[in-house]
Amino acid sequence: MSKVTPDLFEVLNDPKAEAVLAKLYKAALKQGWAMVFHFLPKAFKLLGKGIDWKTENEKFYDDKYIPIVPAQGTFLYIQARALNAKCILEFGTSYGISTIYLAKAAKDNGGKVITTEYLTHKASIAGKNLEEAGLSGYVEIREGDARETLKNLDVELDFVLLDGWPDLVFPVFKLIEPKLKKGAVIAVDDVEGFKPSMQDYLNYVRNPENGYISTTIKPHKGMELTVKVK
Ligand SMILES: C[S@@+](CC[C@H](N)C(=O)[O-])C[C@H]1O[C@@H](n2cnc3c(N)ncnc32)[C@H](O)[C@@H]1O
Repeated sequence: MSKVTPDLFEVLNDPKAEAVLAKLYKAALKQGWAMVFHFLPKAFKLLGKGIDWKTENEKFYDDKYIPIVPAQGTFLYIQARALNAKCILEFGTSYGISTIYLAKAAKDNGGKVITTEYLTHKASIAGKNLEEAGLSGYVEIREGDARETLKNLDVELDFVLLDGWPDLVFPVFKLIEPKLKKGAVIAVDDVEGFKPSMQDYLNYVRNPENGYISTTIKPHKGMELTVKVK
């Protein structure tokens, strides 16, 4: 995405949420050069076998949006609507861009989103962004480490977006796995760029003996889409 235009968000049919998304994506675009310079030395890995998250400096991301792109948000919104997902879980809120798409689906489906973010300032700003979008009533933000905040969930999950740090995707998935309904869909962002850190997850969900069907789809950069079938 090189430019933010209103048509990117019109699928939501919600002027308030669309205006907040436009504002947030514009702010994210301003971080574009910092992201380019960060990834330039690793471009071969990023486009080849992928980057091992262990080699990343997490501090660099403290103020970064690193959002899903609008095409992915549109895809997630439509997928959650198609499933009539009432209970949606997200790992990795950041400033709330993806959460807005999920929250609008939850609102339209008569459900709610649980999302978790361990950086206090991001969780707090995400809360304000959701409020401005008119969607805070459909979201519970759990501030803290997902490995703690998602323990003992007392809900059954229809739809999940795993978009926290790549090396935690599999541990967080295993934590929430007992709560997945049959037919639940799990989307994981960036499975190609950070493949070495998500290979454990990919091996698990692509092994039919574990009860899933799974493949990488590309509403933009590679996103793994998994359905619990058993
Ligand atoms: C790629 S960003 C999420 C982007 C967001 N989904 C969006 O599209 O706008 C990943 C986020 O996960 C958060 N995160 C990383 N590890 C976490 C953990 N253990 N528990 C909770 N949040 C975590 C990071 O602070 C970061 O904000």
